[in-house]
Amino acid sequence: MNQKIEQIKEEIKCFHMKTYNDLETFRIKFLGKKKGIVTILFKELKKISIHKRRIYGKIINELKKEAQNKIKVFQSKNKIQNDKILKFDPTLPGKSIEIGSRHPLSILKNRIRDLLINIGFTYVDGPEIEDDWHNFTALNIPIFHPSRDMQDTFFLCKNPDILLRTHTSSVQIRYMKKHNPPFRVLSIGKVYRNESISSRSNFMFHQAEGFYIDKKVSFYDLKQTIHYLITSLFEKVKIRFRPSYFPFTEPSAEVDIYCNNGWLEIMGCGMIDPQVLENVNIDSEIYSGFAFGLGIERIALIIYQMKDIRIYFDNDIRFLKQFKSEF
Ligand code: PHE
Repeated sequence: MNQKIEQIKEEIKCFHMKTYNDLETFRIKFLGKKKGIVTILFKELKKISIHKRRIYGKIINELKKEAQNKIKVFQSKNKIQNDKILKFDPTLPGKSIEIGSRHPLSILKNRIRDLLINIGFTYVDGPEIEDDWHNFTALNIPIFHPSRDMQDTFFLCKNPDILLRTHTSSVQIRYMKKHNPPFRVLSIGKVYRNESISSRSNFMFHQAEGFYIDKKVSFYDLKQTIHYLITSLFEKVKIRFRPSYFPFTEPSAEVDIYCNNGWLEIMGCGMIDPQVLENVNIDSEIYSGFAFGLGIERIALIIYQMKDIRIYFDNDIRFLKQFKSEF
């Protein structure tokens, strides 16, 4: 008998109740009028001697109280919740949700996108995870080319080489492979390089890439487009084109703008190398084109007059909430 009672006690203690249905199951199982476990124990009392009946009667009574207690605890807990719901006043004003502001880099990104769309460019996206061919080989950067050193990146796997793109020029390849000229295309996104973090560089930054392919596109068109873009972004600014080298453009140039008593490089550009056009099956005898790639963070530093690009990635709300924009 003792063992049986202990077992029932344990069962009452461990019975898990979540809903009112569980509560009803519990009540019927232990205190049900006909077949409740505790009720049956009371019935069995009649069969034993008066002496034992007194002792066990007390014990079984306690068992009954424990079961009743468990029911009360459950009911009062749920009552608190019910009361809370009843006390809810739908006429009170709601809690206001703070609306954030656009990130300064996004503002600039949107501005550059809108400026180029205004002159006929189409916006496209490209993947940040690239293969070697789109990022390097098709852009005339074969495996042992020294310019790969300047664009060391993060490899996700070797053989086949899958990597985080080092520039948005890979979008040129993707687009040109699928479309027939003429086209003017723009893409903006993150690029990655194995560089240590400093006030001027980071392992990740944003680039805007523009390219235009048609019959008779000349360096003059390139200069005009860049002139329009830069003078729209900065009110008064001196621009210079400095001869440079990129494996995928010929001739190539770097564009600098004059600020804080010095020249600052903001983008690379050039006429797309005929070999690159051939790599994507565009007839370089008929078509020519230009391309440019500019660093968004660099431009943001000048426009917002910041000295350190790390501030754009610190997520400091005091800094970020100062930027308001329609873009
Ligand atoms: N992809 C070059 C870079 O990231 C920039 C560039 C783009 C140069 C297009 C020429 C033409 O450095």
